[in-house]
Amino acid sequence: MSEQHHDVYPVRDDIAANAWADKAEYAAMYQRSIDDPEGFWAEQAKRLDWIKAPTKIKNTSFDRDNVDIRWFEDGELNVAANCLDRHLEIRGGDTAIIWEGDDPAESCHITYAELYDRTNQLANALKEMGIGKGDTVTLYMPMIPEAAVAMLACARIGAVHSVIFGGFSPDAIAQRVIGAQSKLVITADESVRGGKHVPLKDNVDAALTREGTEVCEEVLVVKRTGGDIDWHEGRDVWYHEMVDKQAMACPAEAMNAEDPLFILYTSGSTGAPKGLKHTTGGYLTYAAMTHQYVFDYHEGDVYWCTADVGWVTGHSYIVYGPLANGATTLMFEGVPTYPTHGRMGEIVDKHKVNILYTAPTAIRAFMAHGDSVMDSSSRDSLRLLGTVGEPINPEAWEWFYRVMGKKRCPIVDTWWQTENGGIMIAPLPGATPLKPGSATKPFFGVQPAIMDSEGQQLEGEAEGNLVILDSWPGQARSIWGDHARFVSTYFSTYDGVYFTGDGCRRDADGDYWITGRVDDVLNISGHRMGTAEIESAMVAHAAVAEAAVVGYPHDIKGQGIYIYVTLGDDVEPTDELKKELTQQVRKEIGPIASPDIIQWAPSLPKTRSGKIMRRILRKIAANECDGLGDTSTLADPSVVDELIEHRVNR
Ligand code: WTA
Repeated sequence: MSEQHHDVYPVRDDIAANAWADKAEYAAMYQRSIDDPEGFWAEQAKRLDWIKAPTKIKNTSFDRDNVDIRWFEDGELNVAANCLDRHLEIRGGDTAIIWEGDDPAESCHITYAELYDRTNQLANALKEMGIGKGDTVTLYMPMIPEAAVAMLACARIGAVHSVIFGGFSPDAIAQRVIGAQSKLVITADESVRGGKHVPLKDNVDAALTREGTEVCEEVLVVKRTGGDIDWHEGRDVWYHEMVDKQAMACPAEAMNAEDPLFILYTSGSTGAPKGLKHTTGGYLTYAAMTHQYVFDYHEGDVYWCTADVGWVTGHSYIVYGPLANGATTLMFEGVPTYPTHGRMGEIVDKHKVNILYTAPTAIRAFMAHGDSVMDSSSRDSLRLLGTVGEPINPEAWEWFYRVMGKKRCPIVDTWWQTENGGIMIAPLPGATPLKPGSATKPFFGVQPAIMDSEGQQLEGEAEGNLVILDSWPGQARSIWGDHARFVSTYFSTYDGVYFTGDGCRRDADGDYWITGRVDDVLNISGHRMGTAEIESAMVAHAAVAEAAVVGYPHDIKGQGIYIYVTLGDDVEPTDELKKELTQQVRKEIGPIASPDIIQWAPSLPKTRSGKIMRRILRKIAANECDGLGDTSTLADPSVVDELIEHRVNR
């Protein structure tokens, strides 16, 4: 068992006194949520406005022969109405979104009333363009208010959005447009990040030349920069021309609680990315409740989640959770280190941010510049810090606590996944003592357990694979168009439980420590990448015979991408070719999948049955060549010596 970290930060009295849950309340509510999930969640559902209140609360089965997940199944509601309409009377004039541009000179405040108007106008525009309930709409957008407006407008009319992160390539866009069968793509001319323009519209144009994308008939284009773009008459429509003329009222469609709200693609260990299907009532209840309790959100707080809306964190904790709670949510267009490395702190000061939710990779990037990196701001408005996306190393945790939060702010390390819809394991600021590196305790209704490789559930202090024993309302219901894959990915490793794909340790206090993926999924700067996807991008290059991708420890990114490449006969291994292969991955997947290291491998270590021994490749990539373990089952053990000799990371 790995070494334990012993620092414990007790709950602060001033935080506990005002928190939604102190230690005793957390314990009592958690117990109730497990003993009586129906009663517990029936009560929690009341935090939303229902058109028809649900009478059936939980109807879920994790049985691999019949995986079927329904929450509030006879209820009806509309997500946009819950995020907008119901706030108008009490806080129509309050700020819903603070938008901070890439350029520090650009920012604006959008009130709930304005967001309501803009959402309705776009909703009416979508209807005019022939989009209705059940249609899918793909969003490939910058971090601008229109991204949130587009999500809410889809929700308002019952269309299903599929947001694609702006760092993905045309091929990746095409794959997702086809997967979701989207009739419409909403994008912008360009996005602006770190002073650079990214050609979003060009990427969409390129994507829509790919076979199978004919399903997409229209492209709605926000003018963000006014940069040069091609125009496809009859297909492309300017957002402002279409939207500005629309009426500001649009009735909210009554949706069943189990109608889909969105699809979100994420990487798995095998095959193409999966479109997780999230539904309406359970998702919003869970996103809103976790946002309130984990961030101890109180009326009037300014809350900032630094994620991109292209990831699930942006869905649940920039848009849906905070807006359902009537919060002020900050949306930042740029990157945290531009124009200065202290930008994050400067934004906190500028907008008096109270709650800051970010990623370990950003923290490590600051750390690399020393404590003085935050000298340009006071950050006195901060009350609470949060992290998500990957395990946080205790050093980064301590730095975040000491420098960013000036030893005043608890840190909530939140473990969860695209599949989960919302935070699953995290401290509650008024209830849970903090341990750097541990996500600590399960949220209400979440029953984590640890399994060994034989499927035995381990009790007490233990290390193994993390599973969840029963359903929670925010859970994804299926993989879009492929329920069998949903079942085989999450419910067939162990019978009757949800398999997370993460390894985990539970300590003597019952606190959970996530140790990282146990499958072939990489976590690069908190972004999920499947090794199989990167490998298939590599072998698509004519020079490549075979490729094996593994992760290795990287100071800033957490994990870096290390690729072993076997070239075809007679192909010269040159630096030029390495550049070409890097370009190849960027083209097929996007810049976020750029390889960090490529090593030429005359051959790969394989078992006699032809299976690549990734365990060995991981060790060599990590420069841990002494503990390679048993190599006797290899077809040709000498392959390993050759790889060690030419390893690149040393
Ligand atoms: C990892 C992001 C440790 C984990 C919301 C998970 C974490 C994957 C944490 C999901 C954390 C996320 N501590 N590991 N606090 N948060 N992970 O789907 O491996 O993009 O399975 O969802 O990120 O990534 P995803």
